[in-house]
Amino acid sequence: MAKIALITGANKGIGFETARQLGLKGYTVLIGARDQKRGQEAVDILVSEKINAQLIELDPTNPDSIQKAVTAVESQFGVLDVLINNAGKMSDADHAAPASVPLSAFRETYELNVFALHEVTRAFWDLLNKSKAARLVNVSSALGSLTLHSNGGMGDFKVIAYDSSKAAVNMMTTHYAYQWKGTAHKANTIHPGSVKTDLNPNGELTVEEGAKTSVELATVADDGPNGKFFHLGNELPW
Ligand SMILES: NC(=O)c1ccc[n+]([C@@H]2O[C@H](COP(=O)([O-])OP(=O)(O)OC[C@H]3O[C@@H](n4cnc5c(N)ncnc54)[C@H](OP(=O)(O)O)[C@@H]3O)[C@@H](O)[C@H]2O)c1
Repeated sequence: MAKIALITGANKGIGFETARQLGLKGYTVLIGARDQKRGQEAVDILVSEKINAQLIELDPTNPDSIQKAVTAVESQFGVLDVLINNAGKMSDADHAAPASVPLSAFRETYELNVFALHEVTRAFWDLLNKSKAARLVNVSSALGSLTLHSNGGMGDFKVIAYDSSKAAVNMMTTHYAYQWKGTAHKANTIHPGSVKTDLNPNGELTVEEGAKTSVELATVADDGPNGKFFHLGNELPW
């Protein structure tokens, strides 16, 4: 049976392209989308490319929506092989000097990037553990690297709520990975690159390039890494 992969925020951007690339590898891809119409449009494109894609209505910030999604996956497949926590956002109010960024920007950003990521992971944990070799991929950012900010590697670009939310994602990933220590399952965190999407209109990479790292870690071998941070095959510093 084909492996089952759920990607959150898969109706567009890096998530959509990740679904396409996994679909082309033979995975059944579940397109997590908070908006039914946008999600179905994405599914229709993938299906027209002969990819086995299905819509899963999933707003990661809404516990009822998460529960419905778990029930749908459980009743149809009974297992989840890959979960890619891809949905993420950057608040407009984050584009200010760090000490001036309002708390509302933190709340808005953490709600999706941090709290929802944990809630989705927690909700799908039992189904992931039913896989022979589950893969959890958390879409973080090099902007979440404490090392790169402290050594100047990130230059002058500072968005404090977003950056700290991704640092939290990195830490959380080490903990999910710890829980899977000694098992066949793997949890890793990734930086897609600076990718041209609605979130980052000035990005330099295409979505095709931007999806590669998620796909690499979603399909990583059983002797592959667990609890690490990657970009295009290279390990990144925390
Ligand atoms: N692009 C980059 O350069 C870059 C760099 C590093 C990391 N990343 C990370 O890559 C991931 C994908 O980003 P992207 O560039 O592909 O962005 P994108 O094109 O803006 O797509 C974001 C996805 O997340 C969903 N989403 C946004 N806000 C949401 C909310 N409040 N609740 C539920 N879903 C929400 C969107 O759904 P709707 O269409 O319904 O809004 C969409 O499916 C994010 O985690 C981002 O932080 C991106």
